[in-house]
Amino acid sequence: MRHARIHPRILGYLGRALSLEYSAVQQYMTQAALCEAWGLNEAAQRFREETVEEMQHADRIVKRMLGLGVAPSASCLRPASVARSLVDLLRQDAVLEADIVALYEEATGFCQRIRDQENAGFFEALWREEAAHAQEIDAWLAQLGVPGHPGPDDRAYF
Ligand SMILES: [Fe+2]
Ligand SMILES: [Fe+2]
Repeated sequence: MRHARIHPRILGYLGRALSLEYSAVQQYMTQAALCEAWGLNEAAQRFREETVEEMQHADRIVKRMLGLGVAPSASCLRPASVARSLVDLLRQDAVLEADIVALYEEATGFCQRIRDQENAGFFEALWREEAAHAQEIDAWLAQLGVPGHPGPDDRAYF
């Protein structure tokens, strides 16, 4: 099962990816609960769906690490961001998704440079999915009137 020739930097990317995916799970789960408490049930449901997607990403990384013969170890979870409005939550999500997109872009590029096509393909698939997430967050913000024109949901809830 152990791959003797796996580049250590790839293991580093996988570890950072797992930390960010678990951080995303924690963040979206927290936001779903906040929106539920604010009575924003549709938003809560969307955040719950995001939570599941991020868990599936973490699952894929865990399986890849096991396949490479290493124990999954996410080392630094980011604290979930707590904000006072849906718009502020989404702004924080945009930052997190941008960081995840940047990591997968870098990991894909590195794997391509060392001609590790299998891992390049693995990271590229995640890169595409996270880029789509980032676009969805931007679209949601635009729907709420951001930037420039705060929409009706840009208000404090606690
Ligand atoms: Fe993800
Ligand atoms: Fe995401």
